Amino acid sequence: MKFSAQEIQKEVARLHKKLGALGWTEKACEDITKVTLEINKLKKEKNAIVLAHSYQTPDIMYGIADFVGDSYGLSMKAKKTKADLIIFCSVHFMAETAKILNPEKEVRVPAVASCSLAESITAKDVRDLRKKHPKAGVICYVNTSAAVKAECDACCTSANALKIIEGMPQDEIIFVPDKLMAQNLQPLTKKKLIKWGGTCIVHEEFSDKDIREIKKLHPKAKILVHSECTPRVVKEADLMGSTTDMLNYVKNAKGKQFMLVTECGLKDRAIAEFKDKEILGSCILCPYMKEILLEDTLECLKSPSKNQIIKLSETTIKKAKRSLDKMVEIVENV
Ligand code: 13P
Ligand code: SF4
Repeated sequence: MKFSAQEIQKEVARLHKKLGALGWTEKACEDITKVTLEINKLKKEKNAIVLAHSYQTPDIMYGIADFVGDSYGLSMKAKKTKADLIIFCSVHFMAETAKILNPEKEVRVPAVASCSLAESITAKDVRDLRKKHPKAGVICYVNTSAAVKAECDACCTSANALKIIEGMPQDEIIFVPDKLMAQNLQPLTKKKLIKWGGTCIVHEEFSDKDIREIKKLHPKAKILVHSECTPRVVKEADLMGSTTDMLNYVKNAKGKQFMLVTECGLKDRAIAEFKDKEILGSCILCPYMKEILLEDTLECLKSPSKNQIIKLSETTIKKAKRSLDKMVEIVENV
């Protein structure tokens, strides 16, 4: 595709306005301009929407995404979109969720990216747990495959996990697959949570010692942690929640300094979007989320390979949708 010098100049200015705060020079913005322009043009021609998780790289979040958010927000966008084609810039289970919620649409992923939590459990594991605990309700965190969701009673995300636990009729809940999230939620509910052994390879790495160092240096800083972190880390926090909960906290708080104990994409978002706030401390990259590249997104929009198109059987969609519908029903009735 050819673009005029004026179109390129305008795109460089648009990109630099967002990416400049993250250290991108005008030259670096210019280097991606042809790709972002082509993607944005193709999106219009094909009536496509690009959904991106907040852990994506800034070129994707600010160059081509129509919506950036957490798992719950992205699911709701996918459910309601009028676009014919959904390009999902994130890990595979999130794109599967979009397909389950809106099966008429074509959903594509630039790369087939896994997740340590989704890999930790199979559909058979859930069936075995049910046999062992026949009276328990089964909740799966959204970071699971469609096949696992199909075996559960309700799904949840980090934005609503406690609400879903409380909204279930059973007093005993099998909560899979995140062991640490279940440990963090247990003190907040009277229900008994039966845990699985999955962990997030990113969030389990944060240490409470590092957080205390930051607190010593910046006593007024607010510490915001993702609910996939260890209970020791959560103990140090002012807020435990989803990525969107953390961004909303930064946006609405009166204070100036924040530490975001999560993946680096969220830190990028906070720096780019809240220029008057100071974001402290280090972050950790998710190798799965970072498999999604701008160039592959263009290819997936132009001429997708077979594995870039999400395919699920009708039975899996029907069964997994029941879990997702139950989540939405509980969230909307609270
Ligand atoms: P959020 O739904 O909070 O964005 O979390 C998704 C995720 O993968 C966290 O590691
Ligand atoms: Fe999975 Fe953790 Fe990466 Fe989120 S950050 S996608 S939970 S590995």
